[in-house]
Amino acid sequence: QALADLAQHCDGCRRCSLGATRQQVVVSRGNPRARLMVIGEGPGAQEDAVGQPFVGRSGQLLDRMLESVGIDSNQDAYVCNIVKCRPPENRKPTALEMAACKPWLEQQIALVDPAVILLAGATAVEGLLGIKGGITKLRGQWRQWDGRWLMPILHPSYLLRNPSKERGSPKWLTWQDLQDVQRRMAQVQAVL
Ligand code: URA
Ligand code: URA
Repeated sequence: QALADLAQHCDGCRRCSLGATRQQVVVSRGNPRARLMVIGEGPGAQEDAVGQPFVGRSGQLLDRMLESVGIDSNQDAYVCNIVKCRPPENRKPTALEMAACKPWLEQQIALVDPAVILLAGATAVEGLLGIKGGITKLRGQWRQWDGRWLMPILHPSYLLRNPSKERGSPKWLTWQDLQDVQRRMAQVQAVL
């Protein structure tokens, strides 16, 4: 119910100028009782049209990669973004837009209470942690934050532009990271 209220409040949100150009606010998809949360950057054109996060090409790749480690993005995860409205031309959201939207994300985290958070891409790391740049160094390293485990990974749109699966490639590295997430999920589920 609290999440339904939040979605309703987001629908009327005008805290930043992205509210003027969006088709729809994109709040979340997936399971609000999941122990895993996935946070991306912001809606693209498809997401803006459908009203759900990660439903375009990036989302399909993300889903397939999660599936390969036994994670169903709709059953086993709650999926959302740093900003809830599409930035025009898919530009990166500004610091002001991310700050304006952050209270919504903080409420989502508090209500879903995930044990593990997957941060997809540099903007998700910047938006949640305030750390700029260096995703290639940050990825694959567990961080503890707010009593939760965080795993930064490369953004699936970056993987779409770098399709090699060779050992050491971005896709291969991300697959290692997701296997690590799978192990962590087994561990946090065991202590419940
Ligand atoms: N990219 C993101 O970061 N989030 C989406 O929801 C879709 C694409
Ligand atoms: N550069 C980015 O901004 N994000 C990634 O995920 C990878 C490279």
